[in-house]
Amino acid sequence: MVPHASDQHLRRLPKVELHCHVEGASRATTIKALADRHGVALPVSDPADLYDFSSLNQFLGIYDIICACLRTADDFRRITYEALEDGANAGVRYREMFFSPGFVIRLGVPVATVWEGVRAGLLEARHDLDIHARMILDFDKPTGPAHAMEMAAFAGAQDRDLLVGIGADSVERDIDHRSFAAAFAEAGRLGLRRTIHAGEDGPADNIAVAVHELGCERIDHGFRLLDDPDLTAEVIDRQIPLTVCPTSNVVIGNVVADVASHPLARQRELGVLATVNSDDPGMMRFDIADEYVAVAQAFDYSLDDMETISLAGIEASWAPDDEKSALRHRFVAEFDALRQEYGLPTRG
Ligand code: HPA
Ligand code: ZN
Repeated sequence: MVPHASDQHLRRLPKVELHCHVEGASRATTIKALADRHGVALPVSDPADLYDFSSLNQFLGIYDIICACLRTADDFRRITYEALEDGANAGVRYREMFFSPGFVIRLGVPVATVWEGVRAGLLEARHDLDIHARMILDFDKPTGPAHAMEMAAFAGAQDRDLLVGIGADSVERDIDHRSFAAAFAEAGRLGLRRTIHAGEDGPADNIAVAVHELGCERIDHGFRLLDDPDLTAEVIDRQIPLTVCPTSNVVIGNVVADVASHPLARQRELGVLATVNSDDPGMMRFDIADEYVAVAQAFDYSLDDMETISLAGIEASWAPDDEKSALRHRFVAEFDALRQEYGLPTRG
């Protein structure tokens, strides 16, 4: 019999996470404390009620409220450290995490302040916790191409071991993704890795633009990929990874009714290098360990399948080759040790 893993086993399974936003990972209690400190009025009295949404637009409205509470470098240090602490508790050993300065730049907080805090939280977590992280600077698509270019230049000037790449988030509707070609070209020239949220609630054509015209090496979400068979074949052939967030697509994007109806299983069957991620674990109150449980249940995946998904995260990451190889060895050893502890046969 092919073994299935318990929820606890899946929580402890070593994982990589490549699609997780530091602001969206923030704890409601922390946002409440920061709101009080900075005299920001929240629309709710109980912080647990802060994270209540049922569409991408509503979600982004709450994202704005969170970001209005983030004023100082220390605020960013705190949410970055806590996000990594929570990730480590969900079994994440390696994470490439987004931060989105566009939301606070428009409130007068300079990107340098944001990065000072994020960098400090990242370094502190590297020192204290069993999770190794790098950051990806996401520019805000609706703010436009000049902002995108500014963010590319800023990111390019930082330590590449800490700030590994550039991405873009927020809405797709009414956005011309081609308008970011110059910013992505500049990012590439500066040696930054490139990704973008595409095909989440927008069409597969946005994925095609990302791959063919923006030089993106990874696609965040890519929910609509299978709508375009030629593009799907190319993404498989080039093993361009997708950072899939099944539950987010149900509760934030509202593009699929439940995880069982998500195209993840079909994407994997076809040979897409699809990874599993939480997106915004704080706001969703649903972390990557919960996501692994949901995916295993929805698709009746065995423990072998879930271990394979975890290893896909290493493959899809932007860690240097020697680090990837060390992660693979470590993960396989931990898979075996967990199987032994839970009385399951060794990996097939
Ligand atoms: N999509 C768009 N914008 C976002 C997301 C997302 O998954 N997460 C945080 N901002
Ligand atoms: Zn996202």
